[in-house]
Amino acid sequence: MADDAPPGGFDRAAWFYEPLARIYSLGKIEAAKASQLGLMNPGDRVLYVGVGAGEDAVLAARVGADLTCIDLSGRMLARARTKFERAGLRGEFIRGDVFEHDRIGHYDVVAANFFLNCFERGPMRRMLRHLSGLVRPGGRLLIADVAAPSGNRLQRQLHRGYNGVGLALYWAMGLVPLHPIHDYRRYFGEAGLRCIRVRDFRVLPFGPVSFQAIEAQRLADPEG
Ligand SMILES: C[S@@+](CC[C@H](N)C(=O)[O-])C[C@H]1O[C@@H](n2cnc3c(N)ncnc32)[C@H](O)[C@@H]1O
Repeated sequence: MADDAPPGGFDRAAWFYEPLARIYSLGKIEAAKASQLGLMNPGDRVLYVGVGAGEDAVLAARVGADLTCIDLSGRMLARARTKFERAGLRGEFIRGDVFEHDRIGHYDVVAANFFLNCFERGPMRRMLRHLSGLVRPGGRLLIADVAAPSGNRLQRQLHRGYNGVGLALYWAMGLVPLHPIHDYRRYFGEAGLRCIRVRDFRVLPFGPVSFQAIEAQRLADPEG
C-alpha cells in the first residue's frame, strides 16, 4: 500500500489499543486470542488479517508458525513488527487491504481477530467469503471476536449493554461503523466453512458470554 494512504482511526489508536482492550475486557480479549495457539503447528502457514499491534501473532510465531501479518494501519503494523523484532522472531508484514490479498488456498490457518467487526453486515459477509478462500481446503479459519448474544433474557440485555458501550466507544474514536453484533456462524455455509468448535469467554464468572473464539474448517467445495 502507498505510504501516503490516509491515516485512519487505528493509526491514532495504535499506542493504546491493546491496553484499552485488556482493561475493557479484564483480559478476556487477550485470552480468547491466546486460546487459538493450540490449533497452530510449527511450520504452518498462518495469516493474521487486521493484525493490529500483534499480541496474538507474536505468540503464534513463538509456536514456530510461518507468519504473514496484514493491516491497513501503518502504525499498528509497526507495533506488531517491533514485537517480533524484540522477540527475535521472523514474519512477513504487509501494509494493505486484506480484500486485495490474493493468495488463494495458500494458508493452513487464517486468524481474523476482532477484525470482521470493523465491517457492516454486507462487507463483513464478503470478507468472510474472501478469508475462507485464502485457507487451503481442510485448513482453519479462526475468529476471536464479540460473541453473538446468548443465554437468558438478563444475560442478553447485559451483553447488549456491555458491547453497546464498547461499540459506541470504538465508533466515537472513528474505528468501526455502528452495526448490530454479528453472528458469524450464520454465514459459514455461503463461505464454505464448517464450525468445529466455539470457546466462550465471560468477563465475570456468572455474566453473559462476551467473547468467543470460533474454529471453522474450510470445506473442499464451498457453496456458490
Ligand atoms: C479492531 S482492530 C483488531 C486488531 C487485532 N486483530 C486485535 O485483535 O487486537 C482491527 C484491525 O484491522 C485493520 N483493518 C481494518 N480493515 C482492514 C482491511 N480492509 N485490511 C487490512 N486491515 C484492516 C485495522 O487497521 C485494525 O488494526
